[in-house]
Amino acid sequence: MRLSLWTVLLLSILFNAAKGTNYHHNPRVTLTEKDVSFRRHRLSGEHNRTELLQGPKDYSIYVGGHRKMFLIDFQAPSQSKEGVCEYDITILHKDEEDLFVCGTNGIHPVCCHTPKETLCSCKTYSAEGSAPFSVNERAPSLYIEKELYSTANLYAQGDGAGIRRHGGTRGRIWSGANKTEQIYVGMTLSGPRADRLQDRIYTFLVERNLDQHPEADLWVSRVTQVCKADRGGTKAILQNQWTSLLSAQLFCGLPERKLGFKHLLDVSILHADSWRDSRVYALFTNGWGMSAVCIYTMGDIDDVFTKSSLKGNRKPVPNSHPIKCVEDSRKLPQEVLRQRKDYQETNDWVRPVNGSGPFMVSHHHYRHIRADRVSGKGLRQHTVLLLSLERGAVHKVLEQNGQAFIIAELHPFSHRTHIQNMLLQPSTKRLYVSTSSEVVELDLRSCQGYGQQCEDCVLARDPYCGWDGSQCTAASGHTIQDVEHGSYLMCKEGGKTAKNVVPHEVHRVPLSARFFLQCPMLSSHAQYRWHHQEQQRECLPAEGQCLLLIEKMSPELEGNYSCVASERDYVWTLIQYELQTEIDTGQLVPSSQHELKTESKSEQLVSFSIAPLLPLLLTLIN
Ligand SMILES: *[C@@H]1O[C@H](CO)[C@@H](O)[C@H](O)[C@H]1NC(C)=O
Ligand SMILES: *[C@@H]1O[C@H](CO)[C@@H](O)[C@H](O)[C@H]1NC(C)=O
Ligand SMILES: *[C@@H]1O[C@H](CO)[C@@H](O)[C@H](O)[C@H]1NC(C)=O
Ligand SMILES: *[C@@H]1O[C@H](CO)[C@@H](O)[C@H](O)[C@H]1NC(C)=O
Repeated sequence: MRLSLWTVLLLSILFNAAKGTNYHHNPRVTLTEKDVSFRRHRLSGEHNRTELLQGPKDYSIYVGGHRKMFLIDFQAPSQSKEGVCEYDITILHKDEEDLFVCGTNGIHPVCCHTPKETLCSCKTYSAEGSAPFSVNERAPSLYIEKELYSTANLYAQGDGAGIRRHGGTRGRIWSGANKTEQIYVGMTLSGPRADRLQDRIYTFLVERNLDQHPEADLWVSRVTQVCKADRGGTKAILQNQWTSLLSAQLFCGLPERKLGFKHLLDVSILHADSWRDSRVYALFTNGWGMSAVCIYTMGDIDDVFTKSSLKGNRKPVPNSHPIKCVEDSRKLPQEVLRQRKDYQETNDWVRPVNGSGPFMVSHHHYRHIRADRVSGKGLRQHTVLLLSLERGAVHKVLEQNGQAFIIAELHPFSHRTHIQNMLLQPSTKRLYVSTSSEVVELDLRSCQGYGQQCEDCVLARDPYCGWDGSQCTAASGHTIQDVEHGSYLMCKEGGKTAKNVVPHEVHRVPLSARFFLQCPMLSSHAQYRWHHQEQQRECLPAEGQCLLLIEKMSPELEGNYSCVASERDYVWTLIQYELQTEIDTGQLVPSSQHELKTESKSEQLVSFSIAPLLPLLLTLIN
């Protein structure tokens, strides 16, 4: 018992020392079920893959899993339902009329259209080459105007991934033979453009580097375009294959620090009113287990596709490049088609917005990224990213002027688990995260966890939240917040600061007894200290508490101990203890006894022997 407590203490001290001053890469606060409203739904069965799709109502979602489909209503749980399917669901889309569902039994991929209420009971057709064979295949897809744009493997053995279009009336369009192993991570419409004929589909992928040089990177990340209007080439060249396919490398790194991120993991698109301003938030990793987020604009991607020369193309043919989407690509001249077939890569790379580096570089292992736009006061808009961590937590990150601020680490699960998928619902500001057996709804506007004071709320810099005069609550036109600077002065200006009443506890402590005082460290970005008379003493951080160790109570140690925190330029007292000596020698704890022993009536105050470890502790602190 004693050992484990001390192990925790020591590890925690070591860990905090290792973190050093690099605090802005750590979440400011950690929020669990106590602080945030989570609504959860257990899925019957175990699911290796969970596909998530917005349901027919607010707060409802479809979940496709292992031989089951669920319609979960988080508002009215009793109205949730489930349907039994003949396959594991791999693709889930909807339009005004139907659900479009694909699945696999591991050997035969199938798809079907189904009325929304029947879930997955529908007449399937074989979907080899459009839907994944295996539940382990990522294969992002888009469903537009009854056409499916997909990236599944062509063969059950697991190769031949490529961009393909199926369904609709225009016939299938395929990608050429695979040159190397490819993993597709995202797909989006690049549009709507003023001339809808010019709308494109952008696909994001990572592929094994063909360059076998020992110093070459193992992976390269790319964005690929195809024209939505593409109908393939002639019988001789590119028949039923894309005539508008072009790919460009995505650059994400800090060349001056020799830090490159080549392995794309996930993308999230924030569409803007004008398609060129739409942003791609791309999550990368490198060989060192670091993560980075780079931001690209669709306009910049389009510029590379239209302005860059093509790799290896020394004799460009007129009208072949830049690519313009045409009504009927089957009528393109042979020499244009030949060029389109032979030169599908740009020399230029797509670089992050404004020629910037990664907007965020982190030692956290992120897996999924979702971006949301949050309206602030006036016309101001903020971007918040939600990044899943390997152990089942989610980081809520503010993106501002190319800087990252980790607002909070959210713990929707009480145990370590693997987050399989995330769905952001921008209209209701809910995030859905799924594991193999559960789906949890996170209310992004749940704000109580930041604290009871206006200053707590403002320091949080959470654009979803604001101070309404009595509590930290969902932001509105009437709430106070300072997303840009997190300045507590906002509260004074707003005249909405409440009187902070510091809890004061009096404790009588036996002479010579050993103690610790504790004070909760809510913000990892704040500095906590103990003030006693004229002296200031550092904290021993442990388990989210700022501890003060008193080895041996004596009359000089009597008096008031205040736990004082400072963050940015705000300084506040969290709690005050008043210690008085209790002269009762009969109660003395023998120095040979190292048992944890509660002396006080108050749970806040625990005394126990620390003598054997104190020298080590002090070495560590200093
Ligand atoms: C699901 O995952 C488990 C454990 O990873 C694996 O053994 C099993 O084969 C998977 N099932 C399918 C259908 O892939
Ligand atoms: C691509 O195709 C070639 C030839 O069919 C095959 O040998 C290779 O394994 C494929 N690459 C991958 C892993 O997709
Ligand atoms: C890029 O530059 C423009 C104009 O200077 C600025 O408005 C915008 O905020 C910048 N974007 C980022 C992500 O820094
Ligand atoms: C401790 O603080 C309380 C309230 O702030 C005050 O009333 C008391 O006199 C102080 N005690 C000592 C010993 O300074």
